[in-house]
Amino acid sequence: MPRDGNMSSWWWCGKEAAYEPLESRAKGVVGAVQSSTKALVVFFLVLLALVAFISSRWFDGTTFTMVTSWGQQPSRSHRRHHRSHSRRVTLTCPNQTTAQTQYCRRFTYPSPSVSPSPSPSPLPIASSEPPPSCPDYFRWIHEDLRPWRSTGITREMVESAQKLAAFRLLVIDGRVYVEQYHRVFQTRDLFTLWGFVQLANRYPGYLPDLDLMFNCEDVPTVKAADYKTSPPPPLFRYCKDDTTVDIVFPDWSFWGWPEINIKPWEPLSEEMKEANERVKWEKRKPYAYWKGNPGVSRQRQDLLKCNLSTGHDWNARVFAQNWEKETQNGFKESNLAEQCMYRYKIFVEGRAWSVSEKYTLACDSPALFVTTHFYDFMTRGLIPGRHYWPIRETAKCRSIKFAVDWGNKHQKKAQAMGKEGSRFILEEVKMDYVYQYMLHLLTEYANLLRYKPTLPEKATDLCLESVACREQGRVKEFLMQSMVKRTSDSEPCDLPPAYTSRELEELRSRKAKAVKQVEKWEQEAWH
Ligand SMILES: *[C@@H]1O[C@H](CO)[C@@H](O)[C@H](O)[C@H]1NC(C)=O
Ligand SMILES: *[C@@H]1O[C@H](CO)[C@@H](O)[C@H](O)[C@H]1NC(C)=O
Repeated sequence: MPRDGNMSSWWWCGKEAAYEPLESRAKGVVGAVQSSTKALVVFFLVLLALVAFISSRWFDGTTFTMVTSWGQQPSRSHRRHHRSHSRRVTLTCPNQTTAQTQYCRRFTYPSPSVSPSPSPSPLPIASSEPPPSCPDYFRWIHEDLRPWRSTGITREMVESAQKLAAFRLLVIDGRVYVEQYHRVFQTRDLFTLWGFVQLANRYPGYLPDLDLMFNCEDVPTVKAADYKTSPPPPLFRYCKDDTTVDIVFPDWSFWGWPEINIKPWEPLSEEMKEANERVKWEKRKPYAYWKGNPGVSRQRQDLLKCNLSTGHDWNARVFAQNWEKETQNGFKESNLAEQCMYRYKIFVEGRAWSVSEKYTLACDSPALFVTTHFYDFMTRGLIPGRHYWPIRETAKCRSIKFAVDWGNKHQKKAQAMGKEGSRFILEEVKMDYVYQYMLHLLTEYANLLRYKPTLPEKATDLCLESVACREQGRVKEFLMQSMVKRTSDSEPCDLPPAYTSRELEELRSRKAKAVKQVEKWEQEAWH
């Protein structure tokens, strides 16, 4: 059995400075600046304003970086934008919609130029605080775009991805366009397109010209091995694995999944926070819970065998979602916030990644992850042993039993893991950051484009009205709930630099070590 002393060095890896919560890091920087150099900052800003007033050319990105770099982190991106107070965003559908209805006539902001040297900038309004650095998982943006780092992305490359795409999305002079090739399962494409519209409304004037192909299916398709000598077609989708080079992008469920009654992430995460308050961890059932659709993968079929049965209690309580029955009653029995009644939650992949990951993590109950093979945009920020407990896919039932026994014996530590997983998903993956991830990814992608995107003949305008006005019922309800109501009033976070190959190696070995450690304990317990 694991000994506590042994455990703590591994367990409390979360205390390392590198994992200091974002807010405290930001506060630290600001605090230090305030106490020691406040006067200097004021002095310099006055001086700068004067200089800028005399010649706005002097006050470009370079000057600003030089001046700020003695006290604070230089901010590299988006500095050139003039931020004012946030403005309201409204949706006005015409009383009667016909095939001829003209949508999307609203004024839009032109895109920033993607040239590396920023244009002359006005004095930023909230100039004293640099935007904090984005969460670490944003660093994977650089990895996802690495295949095109040296070649750039040409129109031919983009168009070669067309046969794999459900739609092509373009931004030209701040306006968003879509060319739809085919419809996809349920409303995935609708809610994904809605996400793009919300991003454009939240950060008006930030989106550069771009042109991309998007696939809405589960399983990644662009195999790295097929493109050893030439760059792969750039294809956006919801997940990838170690063998594929698809570019990962937040999935539709962040804006809602009406067919199975999964609310948009923003209101749903609030509900889950409240549910966590209502049922304290100690009061929850001391078992591991799973509910879902077992039909989509062998792993899930397998998991059903771990359920309570005569003669065996693996500490698992698993439930198959009855889609037929639940479709009839509108999935009312699938209230996610009410699923936080157990002390442990099992996560098991579906056909590929699964949108259920975020709901599994948000309960303040340790998430037991059956070995995962796919990543979505944020999964790579998760560390086994810190945010979740690893479960062997080759010995699921025994492994789950061990995890639950361990947690019930070490309740403080189990609770800490539950909290850490929830903090990650509720704080570092809140909608604010989802939009900032999209913005940074698209900006970096646009920087690689070797051509100026032009409008394909069949592309149409994409805006609030063009997506929402024809919808009704629960689809409309979720669209309205996930609509960005105001433009952002602050700069996006600063994109952290790419990992060095050494850092990547360290991260990999750190994760592997944590998994090995649990396997060792299991081995000791089973013998
Ligand atoms: C739509 O209906 C409202 C009230 O029924 C009316 O006040 C408004 O003028 C109408 N708008 C248009 C564009 O017809
Ligand atoms: C697992 O066991 C519980 C309790 O006996 C039962 O209610 C549930 O339906 C079982 N799940 C499956 C998938 O059979």
